[in-house]
Amino acid sequence: MSSIDEGIFQLSQLLEPNTRITVLTGAGVSAASGVPTFRGKEGLWNKFRPEDLATPGAFARDPKLVWEWYQYRRELILKCQPNRAHDVLATWSGRYPDFTLITQNVDGLHERAGTLNVIRFHGSIWDVGCWEGCSGSPHRWNDETVPFAEVPPPCPHCGGYLRPGVVWFGETIDPEVLEKSAEAARCDLFLTVGTSAVVHPAAGLISESKGHGAFTVEINVEETEALPYLDLALVGKAEEILDRVERMPT
Ligand code: OAD
Repeated sequence: MSSIDEGIFQLSQLLEPNTRITVLTGAGVSAASGVPTFRGKEGLWNKFRPEDLATPGAFARDPKLVWEWYQYRRELILKCQPNRAHDVLATWSGRYPDFTLITQNVDGLHERAGTLNVIRFHGSIWDVGCWEGCSGSPHRWNDETVPFAEVPPPCPHCGGYLRPGVVWFGETIDPEVLEKSAEAARCDLFLTVGTSAVVHPAAGLISESKGHGAFTVEINVEETEALPYLDLALVGKAEEILDRVERMPT
């Protein structure tokens, strides 16, 4: 048996009804669905500068440009379907009683695959909020209009600008999300899938779970910054490895 076969077998054996399982996902999980990742040769941050498109300062300078980029991504994601990686994780979320999925992805594909107990660490591209934070509107709400008649779309409550409901660089993570994620990091099995593990605080959850005694596993097409905190690294495509784990006889 090759080491990857052994690793897949080992992971399959750890999945039991009484295992507390937490999965952290990143853009690599949606790569097979056609959603571009951020880093690497074909990554979005290789073509665009995050400081022009994904910071509060960028929005303040040029809200139209920022919205055009988010509108382009909403149109692209709308045409994408969940892949086998999303489907296997959705199945596990229904099968294992103590399962939490923390995703850095804003594409909503885990939810579309039917995953239960999802924590959206970086918000959702399908949510919006009032840029001014006007008193008449909730903090965030769902609006899947594609395309908007005008960008920036107007806030229905105050007529100012709407903003995408995602977390930008320089913004803090919702304290409730941080608290739930920290709780989920106290688990038996922590699986990190398709993330470069460079963006904090999300990436810090891997070492945090290790510190609490979790068995840590990574599934990625290459080694990442998470390596020092891993018990098992499965190098390969998420959609293929998760499929093989799921098909292992128990
Ligand atoms: P990255 O683009 O940084 O990393 C994607 C990871 O997926 C890389 O490590 C790839 O090797 C891996 N990968 C690619 N295809 C894969 C496949 N089929 N199977 C398994 N792995 C694969 O994306 P994230 O780690 O998600 O933040 O990026 C983290 C955050 O940085 C994002 O949430 C976003 C970005 O800026 C915000 O927007 C705030």
